[in-house]
Amino acid sequence: MKLNKLYTRAIWNLTNELQNLNQPESALFALAQILKDTIGCDAVFVWLLREGSDELSVISGAYNRDLTGTTTGHYEGMIGHVMGTSETMIYNVLPEDEENQIPISDIKSQIVSAFGMPNRPPYGAVQVINKNNGSFNAEDSQLVDHLSALAALDFDDKGFFTEAYPKKEPILELKGIEKEFVNGTETTKVLRGVDLDIYPGEFLVVLGESGCGKTTLMNIIGGMSKMSRGKITLEGKDFSNPSDKEIMLYRRNYIGFIFQSYNLMPNLTALENLEFIAEICQSPNPPEKMLDQVGLSAKANNFPSQMSGGQQQRISIARALTKNPQLILADEPTAALDYETSIEVLKILEDIVRLQNKTVVMITHNHEIAKMADRVVKVRNGSISGTRINCHPLHAEELVW
Ligand SMILES: Nc1ncnc2c1ncn2[C@@H]1O[C@H](COP(=O)(O)OP(=O)(O)OP(=O)(O)O)[C@@H](O)[C@H]1O
Ligand SMILES: [Mg+2]
Repeated sequence: MKLNKLYTRAIWNLTNELQNLNQPESALFALAQILKDTIGCDAVFVWLLREGSDELSVISGAYNRDLTGTTTGHYEGMIGHVMGTSETMIYNVLPEDEENQIPISDIKSQIVSAFGMPNRPPYGAVQVINKNNGSFNAEDSQLVDHLSALAALDFDDKGFFTEAYPKKEPILELKGIEKEFVNGTETTKVLRGVDLDIYPGEFLVVLGESGCGKTTLMNIIGGMSKMSRGKITLEGKDFSNPSDKEIMLYRRNYIGFIFQSYNLMPNLTALENLEFIAEICQSPNPPEKMLDQVGLSAKANNFPSQMSGGQQQRISIARALTKNPQLILADEPTAALDYETSIEVLKILEDIVRLQNKTVVMITHNHEIAKMADRVVKVRNGSISGTRINCHPLHAEELVW
């Protein structure tokens, strides 16, 4: 059967993605997004079989809620076929009882294509749910098979496998976050119901085009701006309407900020910038030690104007670390830096998560940088359009752009 132009283009787009990407997880993410946009449907999920187990779990989703990590047993109800051989495989559907999942009753129609190579055990399945206009047809099915086959080939080449992604209790839970700005008679709706959980010790990247609402979301997470509607839970307690004092203490002791434009105090030296913060925080880290950690002890007595952009950004990271915060928020920390300096800064952020078990939420519009994350949340036009787990996050030094 000949595919229509749109569908042929989808295959072409995925082929290009696969050539550019050095991380299979981001290829699967692209696969989910391309399928959702091309077919026009409610959701696409990519399920992978975990190595050495019978469980399938969602590694990528093109959906407005994060269902990554959802796990089910094998052989229970979702029927697909292995491309190439047409062997029938049975996979689970999203279980109805658990919180945060698409109830089975909401699934009106779906296509499931087993994700794997002929004559081998499959890696998992691609699930395409509820076509928006009309019902699924043979052409849709063929597109899903083609794209799954392309991605499976990529997986096979790279010898990819998945491990369990440990789901912990979130430190911060955002539910239905909306934000609008009112300017005279004009109201601008910027966030349209964002659901997002942040887990302790994870490196979370928020990815999205300019103007989609990333900074607005970050400002709400950081307590710098109030949401219009929604619910925030901090370490299990409702934090939707904190008092001025609570929010002040939260910003001071819980959150470390890193901005695109360093925001150092120009009339203080590097060390003084850190000492200033240390004085007002509850349990600060020693400023000299933090300078050492970002490799800039030698610049302790330099003023910001006497340092390069990369050095100033490292000082601003040291300043965030001085607060000894639970959560570090970084808004495009490398946007003003060249490639080499960006990698240095990203390496420091990587160490903060991997060696010190801190939680980092980083905003970027650079898809390559997202490959460092444990989890990637994509924002489009004020809501989440997809999420993925990187089972094998790349190191900063492996990123290329
Ligand atoms: N105070 C404000 N009043 C009115 N509109 C605002 C305000 N702040 C942000 N916006 C609008 O909200 C939208 C999202 O802005 P935001 O800064 O969150 O985007 P972003 O994703 O961080 O973009 P970028 O990648 O360019 O930094 C934009 O259209 C912006 O114009
Ligand atoms: Mg921004």
